[in-house]
Amino acid sequence: MAVAQKPNVGSWTEAYPELGTAPISYEDSISPEFFEAERKAIFRRCWLNVGRVEQVPKPGHYFTRELAAANTSIIVVRGKDQKLRAFHNICRHRGNKPVWTDYPGEEDRGTCQQFACKYHGWAWRAAARA
Ligand code: FES
Repeated sequence: MAVAQKPNVGSWTEAYPELGTAPISYEDSISPEFFEAERKAIFRRCWLNVGRVEQVPKPGHYFTRELAAANTSIIVVRGKDQKLRAFHNICRHRGNKPVWTDYPGEEDRGTCQQFACKYHGWAWRAAARA
């Protein structure tokens, strides 16, 4: 990788006047539209490390992850067939969040036979049959 050499005399701006000395726009650092474009371009296109397999050793073990970068919440659960699965943490009925704690921002984890939405009671098996 090429490294720019520091000017022998004077300042960088004297050595490179074509770069100017006017303020540089920071719009890309504060723009909600730019942030949303970054989410789509980067975090929805690559693998995200959300945890380790040791966190869900047995069927029915699960944990949640709030993925701010992807603007979503997920549930990772081990099925009876020993497969790991991840689901959006959102109810298929009316969009309530089925797995959560009383403390915003805290993740949940544990063991269960089924997830049940607290809004209208829809439920799903946590550990799919083998
Ligand atoms: S929103 Fe979950 S059961 Fe209605």
